[in-house]
Amino acid sequence: MMVSIIVAVGPQNEIGHNGALLWKLPEDLKNFKKITMDHHIIMGRKTFESIGKPLPGRTTVIISRQENYQVEGCLITNSLIKALEMADQNGEDEAMIIGGGEIYNHALSLADKIYYSKVDFEGEADTYFPKLNRENWTSSGKKLHPKTDKLLGWSYEVLYRNNK
Ligand SMILES: NC(=O)c1ccc[n+]([C@@H]2O[C@H](COP(=O)([O-])OP(=O)(O)OC[C@H]3O[C@@H](n4cnc5c(N)ncnc54)[C@H](OP(=O)(O)O)[C@@H]3O)[C@@H](O)[C@H]2O)c1
Repeated sequence: MMVSIIVAVGPQNEIGHNGALLWKLPEDLKNFKKITMDHHIIMGRKTFESIGKPLPGRTTVIISRQENYQVEGCLITNSLIKALEMADQNGEDEAMIIGGGEIYNHALSLADKIYYSKVDFEGEADTYFPKLNRENWTSSGKKLHPKTDKLLGWSYEVLYRNNK
């Protein structure tokens, strides 16, 4: 089973503030939906609560240390490794780790692939993606989305781990 991360970062690796995302980019969200559809999406409890519900068409796996944490329609576990095992046992071919900061920290060394959006964001943040050593990753090529009157500029690429 392939292990993938999907993330959108700012220039300083910012990903969130006060439990929410930092920007609204409808095309990036559309891309997120397309990439994750029909897959297991694995996330920390705080990211789940910021989304607020299981996303249709996907199997939601929530990681929490709370013993009695339950959400109807979601799988719950207490570690990233167990979440990946659950996905594998369900026949998943590409598990999607969708955040947030705590979970990405664990996930980066396990990932084969990163769906990586970078947003020209300026502002306050309190949650970050871990530092990426670009020498370990090969890019599919960057697609640029220039700034418009209403939307921030951003880029999108897929990163593949070297020699794995
Ligand atoms: N830009 C992006 O692409 C993106 C993507 C996703 C999220 N975000 C943002 O990131 C922020 C949330 O990230 P976060 O770092 O605060 O929280 P998080 O990683 O979503 O969730 C943290 C929670 O996960 C559980 N957890 C973490 N490590 C664990 C471990 N080793 N074992 C068992 N459970 C573990 C704990 O849940 P319990 O407290 O229940 O034990 C912990 O409180 C939000 O602002 C969100 O909007 C941004």
